[in-house]
Amino acid sequence: MEKEKLHIIPHDHAIDRSDRERLLAQKAQLIWFVGLSGSGKSTLASRVEQELHQMGRLTYILDGDNVRSGLNKDLDFSEASRMENIRRIGEVSKLMVDAGLVVITAFISPFRSDRETIRELVGADRFVEVHVDCPIEECEKRDVKGLYAKARQGLISNFTGISSPFETPEQPEVRVQTHLNDIDECTNTIINYLKNQDA
Ligand code: ADX
Repeated sequence: MEKEKLHIIPHDHAIDRSDRERLLAQKAQLIWFVGLSGSGKSTLASRVEQELHQMGRLTYILDGDNVRSGLNKDLDFSEASRMENIRRIGEVSKLMVDAGLVVITAFISPFRSDRETIRELVGADRFVEVHVDCPIEECEKRDVKGLYAKARQGLISNFTGISSPFETPEQPEVRVQTHLNDIDECTNTIINYLKNQDA
């Protein structure tokens, strides 16, 4: 059956992103952390947010486990659900960037094409992909949530890096290696990139 065409005509409101950016005195953007479970995305996102907050930026974090407890609680870890997870986060991020915020996200986001779609959605000049690079052996050794052990026992299916793929970012704006550098060094690398991006 052919889908009926929906007659939707978006309205252009008088106040737009640039008005809100002027009010907030900041550039709205999306800082997208990508990496394996246990690589340190949430910890780093939180630290980067604290630094930006101190610099007077209005920020907001969208985090995997938090968003999956609410907006996306109907989704599992199948390939289709992960794509839908990231698609929704991308749309929410786009709205928040339009609201003038510096949005920080922390999702595994294992598929390159999904990440590239979001780059196009918010605009390449407002998208900062941060690869939180950490070998799976190290993530598994940390196993903060005990999920790798469960995945190895076959208690969790489609586990990223074990039974579900992770497509490594090829040209992220920033790459930090949490197994080689401590949290202060990684945070500085990201903050320095953000400070210098328009220089
Ligand atoms: S994503 O792949 O769809 O981007 P997301 O970042 O939202 O994943 O959620 C990942 C978090 O869910 C992990 O940090 C982990 O705590 C939990 N989790 C539960 N099951 C899985 C699984 N099968 N694979 C990866 N993470 C899982």
